[in-house]
Amino acid sequence: MSALLDLALLGTSWIHVLLAPYTKVEESFNLHATHDVLMYGVQPAALENYDHFVFPGAVPRTFIGSVLLAWLSTPAIRAADALELVHDKADLQLIVRLVLATCNAIAFCLIRRAVSRRFGGLTSLLFVILTCTQFHLPFWMGRTLPNMFALIPVNLSLYLWNNRTPHTTRPWPSSVKQVLALLAFTAAVFRSEVLLLLGPLALQTLICGYVSVFGLVKIGVVYGLGSAALTTLVDSYFWQRWPLWPELYGIYFNVLEGKSAEWGVLPYHTYFSSFLPKLLLSSLPLSVLGFLANSHVRGLVVQVVIFIVLISGLGHKEWRFVIYVIPVFNIAAACGAAWLVSRRKSTIFGKLCLLAVIGLLAFNCLATYLLTITSMANYPGGEALAAFNEIASNHDDVHVHISNLAAQTGASLFLQTHAPPYFPGLSIEPPTHVWMYNKTEHLSPQLLSASREITHIIAEADSAALYGPEWTPIGSILGFDRWQFRPGVKDALRGSLMDRFER
Ligand SMILES: *[C@@H]1O[C@H](CO)[C@@H](O)[C@H](O)[C@H]1NC(C)=O
Ligand SMILES: *[C@@H]1O[C@H](CO)[C@@H](O)[C@H](O)[C@H]1NC(C)=O
Repeated sequence: MSALLDLALLGTSWIHVLLAPYTKVEESFNLHATHDVLMYGVQPAALENYDHFVFPGAVPRTFIGSVLLAWLSTPAIRAADALELVHDKADLQLIVRLVLATCNAIAFCLIRRAVSRRFGGLTSLLFVILTCTQFHLPFWMGRTLPNMFALIPVNLSLYLWNNRTPHTTRPWPSSVKQVLALLAFTAAVFRSEVLLLLGPLALQTLICGYVSVFGLVKIGVVYGLGSAALTTLVDSYFWQRWPLWPELYGIYFNVLEGKSAEWGVLPYHTYFSSFLPKLLLSSLPLSVLGFLANSHVRGLVVQVVIFIVLISGLGHKEWRFVIYVIPVFNIAAACGAAWLVSRRKSTIFGKLCLLAVIGLLAFNCLATYLLTITSMANYPGGEALAAFNEIASNHDDVHVHISNLAAQTGASLFLQTHAPPYFPGLSIEPPTHVWMYNKTEHLSPQLLSASREITHIIAEADSAALYGPEWTPIGSILGFDRWQFRPGVKDALRGSLMDRFER
C-alpha cells in the first residue's frame, strides 16, 4: 500500500512532465544553465559558451540547483541512451525534468511517511489523493523554477518537523537543528523569501525552549554564513563577477530598490483571496476543518499563515512565492477529510460527510483536468520549433530566427536539435546539416526581411502582414488564448511558422 501511494505521487508528476514537455520563460534560466552544464561542462574555458552571458535576465540567479540537477541527470541520460530512448537533444530536456520531478516526489514521499506516522494511515492516504488531484504542485514539480529547487529542502524540513509519533508534543532536538539548518541554507542559496518562514519558526523554537539562544546563533552562523559562502563562491565563478551572492542581490534589487514593484503590485489580501484558493482547490475548505478538528494541525498551520501574512507585505505577489505552504495545507486538509470520513456512516450526517469529501475530490479532478488541457496548449513556441525541426529536417543552410514570444513559450536551447552543442558520448549521430538558430531580440520585420542570412522565421501569426509577401507560411501552431463556451473550438492562435526560401 505504502509503495503504491509513493508510486501514485511519482506517477502524477511524471505524467505532467510528459503531457507538457515544454517550458516557459520563468523556467528558462535554470533550464538553460542545466543545458550548458550538461553540454559544455564547468571548466573555466567552457564558460564563454554559456547562455546567461548573452541573456542574463533581470537578476542573477544561483547555479547551484542547475549544477546539481545536471550532475544527477547525467547517469539517467546515459541509462536512457543505453536503452535507445534518446533520439535527439529535446529528449534530454524531458530527462532533466523527470529527474527533477523524481527528486521532488521523493521529498514528498518522505512527508507522506511522516504524516502517516503522526496522523495515521487514513490521513496519509487522503493526503496523497488530495495532492495528486491538485493541479499546481504536481504540474510544477518537474519545472526548473528556483522555487521548485527550494521546495526540496523546505519539504525535507517539513518531514523532519513532523516525523514523530502522535503523542509527542515536541519535535526531536536533532530534527529542530536540521530543520533550521536546512531552511537557512535554502534562504541563502535559493529563495530569500524562505527567511520569512525561518524567522517565525526560529522564534517559536526559541520560545518553546527547543533550542537555546546560543544554539540558535550557532546554527545561524555555521549554516547561514556557510551557505552564503558556498553560493558566493559558486556563483561568482559562473557569473564571472566577484563577489556575487545572488539572493542578497535579489533582495537589494527587488525589495530595497523596489524594482519588483515594476512587475506589478497586488492588494494585501491577494494571497488569501485569490492565490491560495487556486493553488489548493478543495483542500482549502478541508484544511479549515482540519484546523478546527486537530490541535497538532493548528500549530503547523499557524506557522505558514504567519509566513503568508509577512510575505503579503511585499507589493509584488506571485503564487509561486507561497508554494511552500501547499504541503502543510494539504496535511491539514487530509486531517479534515479524515475527520469527515470517519463519522458513523449509519447516520444521515455521516453519509453527508462522506458525500462531501467525494464531491470535493471530484471537483479537484475536474478542475485539474481543465487546467491540464489548458496548460498543454500553452507552449506554442516549443511546439512550433519542434514542428519546424521536423518540417525542414532535410534542408541544409537553415538560419531560423526565433521570435521573442516563441522563445518565451518553449523554444528552449534543448530544442535546437540541428545545431551543436551535443551531449558528449551519446550513441545517436549528430544531424548532418548544421543550422543556425538565431534568438537575437528586437529585430524589426524590416531588418529580418533585409537580412541576407535569415531563411526562416518563427513568429506570431498576427504579425504575418508585417513581414511582407515574400514570406510563405509553411505551418502554424495553435496556442491557448482563453476559454470560450463553444465546445471543441479553441480560439486565437499565436506562434506560426513562416518560410522564405522562395523569395
Ligand atoms: C514538497 O511536497 C509536496 C507535497 O507535500 C510535493 O507536492 C512537492 O512536490 C514537494 N516538493 C519538493 C521539491 O520536494
Ligand atoms: C541573427 O540575425 C541578425 C540579423 O540578420 C544578425 O545581425 C545576427 O548576427 C544574427 N545572429 C547570429 C548569432 O547569427
